[in-house]
Amino acid sequence: SHLPQPSVEPSNINSCVKILAESADLKSVPSKFSFIHDPTCSNSDSIPIIDFSLLISSNPDQRSKVIQELGKACNEWGFFVLVNHGIPETLVKAIVDRCTEFFDLPEEKRKYETSSGPVKHSTGSILNSSKEGIFQWRDFIHTVVHPEYHFPDKPQNLREILYEYAENSRSVSKKLLQLLSTTMGLEEGFIDETRNLNSSFQIFAANCYPPCPQPDKTIGTLPHTDPRLLTFLIHNGVAGLQIEHNGKWFSTNSPQNSILVNVADQLEIFSNGKYKSVKHRAVVNEQTTRLSIVLFNGPASDAIVSPASKLIQRDGRPLYRPMKCIEYMKIRQKDRVVGYSSLDCVK
Ligand code: SIN
Ligand code: FE2
Repeated sequence: SHLPQPSVEPSNINSCVKILAESADLKSVPSKFSFIHDPTCSNSDSIPIIDFSLLISSNPDQRSKVIQELGKACNEWGFFVLVNHGIPETLVKAIVDRCTEFFDLPEEKRKYETSSGPVKHSTGSILNSSKEGIFQWRDFIHTVVHPEYHFPDKPQNLREILYEYAENSRSVSKKLLQLLSTTMGLEEGFIDETRNLNSSFQIFAANCYPPCPQPDKTIGTLPHTDPRLLTFLIHNGVAGLQIEHNGKWFSTNSPQNSILVNVADQLEIFSNGKYKSVKHRAVVNEQTTRLSIVLFNGPASDAIVSPASKLIQRDGRPLYRPMKCIEYMKIRQKDRVVGYSSLDCVK
């Protein structure tokens, strides 16, 4: 197998939040996890819902109406709930189930544990990149899934299911990027035909947030914006993801079998700021384990991303400077601090 062999001391298993959370006498959050966040959060019924089946409808009026809604959602919210996306419900459910099992396999998880990033495969609760050394209340795995394949071997079938889900997601992401090219005033194929800018590169992440005795005293995932073009997120039905909109936090409430899609940093750059890569965070709760499953779609690491020249002409100037995706990722790993968006480094 091309997967890394276990390379950690047994004591490192302590970095597994799930085991910590399951220890019977845990009444408070250990201080290394301490992060006081503002718990104020509004309910959001207003996050836009986009019906994928209408985006590809044969009725041109219906189609163009929803395409406009898609552009508006990316401009105003940077987030939308994608329904009727055509990815089989059984596949989505299987991913959630298999990933749940993965986090119940301490030995398998340890194979992916690392304390330094950026990473091809890693799992653990350590936020490698935080200057403040804040630990998040989660275990996670982070692996490249396309065009290279680095899937966990266990539990059984996870590899095959992930492969299929990533492939399905790629075609949905490709279609969305085609349509977003048009809503930016570019030709439909523009993003895909710009070298390496398409969603031909994917990173997969699964986050497991165990129940926490003091949810307000820690954070599941610190506020951040995502790298790359479009992020797809599914979850196990437990709430926790919050997004920033007009300076306030909003909880997300996505219906079963929908995908939460958000604009990521390289799309904001490419769109010269028209589409917003907005900050989001994940909070934890006292009762239930939450699982989120995330795919970061394109571009390839060696792609140099800059605002599209046509948009620079239209807007009068570029709002961001060109940068190789991999360089951007390095800055992001190094400089990430609480409440900071790495986008500031390319402005
Ligand atoms: C993330 O944005 O990295 C995770 C968000 C979530 O778990 O909902
Ligand atoms: Fe994220």
